[in-house]
Amino acid sequence: MDGLIDQKSKVFSNSFNAHSLQERVLKRTSVYDSSVENQRFSQTNYQKPILITCGLPYANGRAHIGHLRTYIPADIFVRSLKKQGLNPLFVCGSDAHGTPIALNAKSLNIHPSELVQKYHNHFDDIFKQMGIDFNIFGSTADPINHAHTKKIINQLMENNLLYKKVIEIAYCKECVKFLPDRYVFGTCPHCGKSARGDECDAGCNKHLEPGELENPTCSICRGTATYKEQEHYFFKLSEFKEFLIEYLEKLGGTLNARNYALGWTKNKLMDWCITRNLDWGIPFMDREDLVIYVWVDAPIGYISFTEKWAKENGKNWEDYWKDDSNITHFIGGDIIYHHCIFLPAMLEGAGYSKASNVVASGMMKIEGNMFSKSRGFVVWIDEDYLKHGFHPDLLRYYLSSYTSHTKELNFSWKVFQEKINSELVSIFGNFLYRVLLFTHKNFGKIPKGTICDGVMGKIQSIVSSVEDSMNNYEFKKAIDTAMSLSAYGNAYFQSNEPWKLIKENKDACGSVIMNCIQIAKALIILFEPILPSKMKEAWAQIGMQGSVHDAVYSDVIVSVESEVLLPKPIILFEKIDDEKIKEMINISNMRIKDAIAKAKKQEIKIDENKKELEFMDIKDEIAIEDFLKLDIRIGKIIEAVPIKKSKKLLQLKVDIGEEEGARQIVAGIKETHNPEDIIGKNVTIIANLKPVKLCGVESRGMVLAGSDSEGGAILLVPENDVECGTQIG
Ligand code: 2FM
Ligand code: ZN
Repeated sequence: MDGLIDQKSKVFSNSFNAHSLQERVLKRTSVYDSSVENQRFSQTNYQKPILITCGLPYANGRAHIGHLRTYIPADIFVRSLKKQGLNPLFVCGSDAHGTPIALNAKSLNIHPSELVQKYHNHFDDIFKQMGIDFNIFGSTADPINHAHTKKIINQLMENNLLYKKVIEIAYCKECVKFLPDRYVFGTCPHCGKSARGDECDAGCNKHLEPGELENPTCSICRGTATYKEQEHYFFKLSEFKEFLIEYLEKLGGTLNARNYALGWTKNKLMDWCITRNLDWGIPFMDREDLVIYVWVDAPIGYISFTEKWAKENGKNWEDYWKDDSNITHFIGGDIIYHHCIFLPAMLEGAGYSKASNVVASGMMKIEGNMFSKSRGFVVWIDEDYLKHGFHPDLLRYYLSSYTSHTKELNFSWKVFQEKINSELVSIFGNFLYRVLLFTHKNFGKIPKGTICDGVMGKIQSIVSSVEDSMNNYEFKKAIDTAMSLSAYGNAYFQSNEPWKLIKENKDACGSVIMNCIQIAKALIILFEPILPSKMKEAWAQIGMQGSVHDAVYSDVIVSVESEVLLPKPIILFEKIDDEKIKEMINISNMRIKDAIAKAKKQEIKIDENKKELEFMDIKDEIAIEDFLKLDIRIGKIIEAVPIKKSKKLLQLKVDIGEEEGARQIVAGIKETHNPEDIIGKNVTIIANLKPVKLCGVESRGMVLAGSDSEGGAILLVPENDVECGTQIG
């Protein structure tokens, strides 16, 4: 082991220093090759003030895992910039306006301001608990946002970019009310799916202008709405086509954002109606019946929160929003249109800076199902995670290391357990603990020694690659690379056999340990953006002074000090046991069951109102191969007896053309069908379901049935009498 360290400065004399770091940072600016599929790139000029924003959560419900899919990587990105010696400003806040909030408050019989205050506080608290460290978490209801929004509207008016026009607005005669956005539902004119107000959120995801929705229906009374003329205000978005194409061609961030927006812009750009008939929001000029559309004042929140923070910190908000600034928006993939088309056009029109990067996260699934609150596929951060004693950093790790930022991310409790146990516990935690335990037992302090050239080279190359990946929004790649240093550390410890060396050559053993602690230090710095709270503990365990949050990447080349006393180490990551995961899976299953029951009730209610089941979500798409796995066939009921213990179940024998005789199937049709009436009836069954026991009776298949408005079973029967065993498909 050759000592390459300059003992005086304790800094390695090689090319990895702050200067070269800066050079590499500058070199990265504006480089990308569009031929590489799904490549990410950054248009950040690190010499200008850096502003990172996160999409504003509606203050209308609790935080769930889908929210964190955007906020955690954004926080990791910001922390990683700080580790490069940069000083980004990180702003977010709650989105207080809009019709969903007005409707929800109405249904709870409270004022919208009460509702938004409650959820503003909730999000603020959850973000803090999850280690998401905004410089400011504002609210769009804040007077500063009202003032700044009005200022921008006036500017747009002055620049001749707004005009008024009489348009048709959905109107409910029954409720005597214009129906803005979520007050109306109907059919999307673009894809034909059910859509709500201003957005086709269950279909093509497109923004819908007032008057576009077909078959409008009032959300309050569920009666048919009509269209009625009224004067509204429009933003001349269509005039920004050329500007947007040029802007988007150069836009950095993730390609999903840029490509989606470019496609849309080249296709069709309609002017935006920026007023709504509502009494909750920012009043529009002197029109008492109108407020400004929520999608105008929400993104202006980014500016007013910067302004508020600047005022409180003796800074100038214009440094971030005029001329030479450098803005990155982190958003969910569903709001690309608003951030890449409408917002830059509005900012351009009013003379503000536009984002240089838009980073859009991919979709979220829960246990393989499309995220859906109404169907119970949701993980609430407080109720389902924090309250069960899981450490925030573990979820940070899962969400950022599961897959690339733009890809679909599945949350599964089983995979969560596997990832934590096999990566954080067995690799990273194991390395730290075994090294520190050995050191504590045999030295009680960091021993004297020299750092190997090879070890330092490895650290440097890994840190440099992690940094690059972080800057290109490749969080998973960054984490995998950082994790490879733990594996390297484990192998280094193992192959040097310090437990033997301690008996033969204590000095040599000291050197091995010092190298291990140097690796540990680098790991802790690398993982601070991902696991900020755990790394704070680890930093103290290796005897470091100061805050790990202030440590920078280039500190990895500063040698750890020998003779520093070390505390007895504590295991950082505990294994998650099977029982705990079983408990969590049971909780999610219960939630799904409850949601199905609730949906059923709602279905009945809607039916009573003579409405189709328009809001029953279509289940996730499946491949034809998956469908073909089902053995669906026609059978004939030859025996039916009630199951005494059950109100709902009949025990059937169904002839499905099998040689062994009739199949025993238990069906929930007792409430609607007399056993004697159904003997000889043809039914459709699924013949290859795994057997289950219902009320102690084995059922080998399922009789297909729908339900009527009372929830009663309607058997699915063939059009004509067919042979038993006839297959369907
Ligand atoms: O889609 C949403 O949840 C919005 N509340 C996001 C607003 S982001 C920005 F424009 F402010
Ligand atoms: Zn649509």
